[in-house]
Amino acid sequence: MKVLSAMQPSGTLHLGNYFGSMVPNRELQEQSDASYFFIVDLHALTTVHDPAVLRAARRDAVRDYLAAGFDPEKSIMFFQSAVLEHSELMWILSTVTPMGLLERAVSYKDKVEKGIDATAGLFTYPVLMAADILLYDADLVPVGKDQKQHLEMTRDIAMKFNNIFGETFTIPDVQIQEMVAVVPGTDGQKMSKSYGNTIPLFGDEKAIKKAIMGIVTDSKDMNDPKDPETCVIYKIHQLFLSVDEAEALADEYRSGIAYGDAKKKLFETYMDYFKDMREKHASISDADIDDVMEKGAEQASAVAKAKMEQVKQAVGLI
Ligand code: ADP
Ligand code: TRP
Repeated sequence: MKVLSAMQPSGTLHLGNYFGSMVPNRELQEQSDASYFFIVDLHALTTVHDPAVLRAARRDAVRDYLAAGFDPEKSIMFFQSAVLEHSELMWILSTVTPMGLLERAVSYKDKVEKGIDATAGLFTYPVLMAADILLYDADLVPVGKDQKQHLEMTRDIAMKFNNIFGETFTIPDVQIQEMVAVVPGTDGQKMSKSYGNTIPLFGDEKAIKKAIMGIVTDSKDMNDPKDPETCVIYKIHQLFLSVDEAEALADEYRSGIAYGDAKKKLFETYMDYFKDMREKHASISDADIDDVMEKGAEQASAVAKAKMEQVKQAVGLI
């Protein structure tokens, strides 16, 4: 089984990303025969037009993923822009992609509504994503719900190509991560960078403390019994615990732990849980990142080049 995932280099990783995406992806990485993981910096250009910001975001993303346990020995890690075949295949795929298919893309409309420039790149974003996936004959692409339509478009484009030019691409399976755990943010809504309610994984300890101390609570008095089922502090804390530990903590809530103390406990658990990852994060140099990405790009290029030979044969370019 070949598993492929890709991430935009955007924003600081938070606890929601960790439990909702990193942990399940890390597990898949363990189970697969081949796993590709790349940073889609070409896609990022549809929204970022500041070179310094993009340059920093690309590196930061790699540092975060390496620290969070992506293993370059198990996954081929690279920057999308380093493997030229992504753009090359995108063009060829765009010549079989119906305009109507792209016009139905919800994500394009959402982004334009949010004020992102309606460029040709933004419109054809799903074709580049199809190229990302088809180039590596991925069997499985685990994504969040918001990417389901993009993956269906990838399947449509692949089938259309195969129909016209003969069996060339593997049709990937969509695996929607139903977010077994939707991690709540500090305000109780879904944690998301767009809501400003995140607890960061890396960076300044003070910022983490501030976020945790700012978690919403009801107005119960210090010694009143608290309901773990509805308490946001508890819901976040239990993500780190075994069933038994979580039950013991729930008892403490029921017997009236003060919210301030509950938050301190969570902070301690948080710092303890992420200690090794945070140390690793601080120890990864720019040169380490360059090495990993260079090696990954070489490995990915070899696969991508072979696939492009096949594609060019199929369409009559060679
Ligand atoms: P954000 O909502 O902060 O913009 P992204 O959309 O970039 O996060 O999400 C990246 C990955 O992290 C996705 O796979 C998504 O499903 C997962 N994820 C993000 N927030 C949460 C959350 N609160 N709970 C569970 N998973 C999450
Ligand atoms: N569109 C995806 C997102 O915004 C990122 C992405 C680009 C991707 N190419 C991909 C995801 C290929 C999975 C496979 O999250």
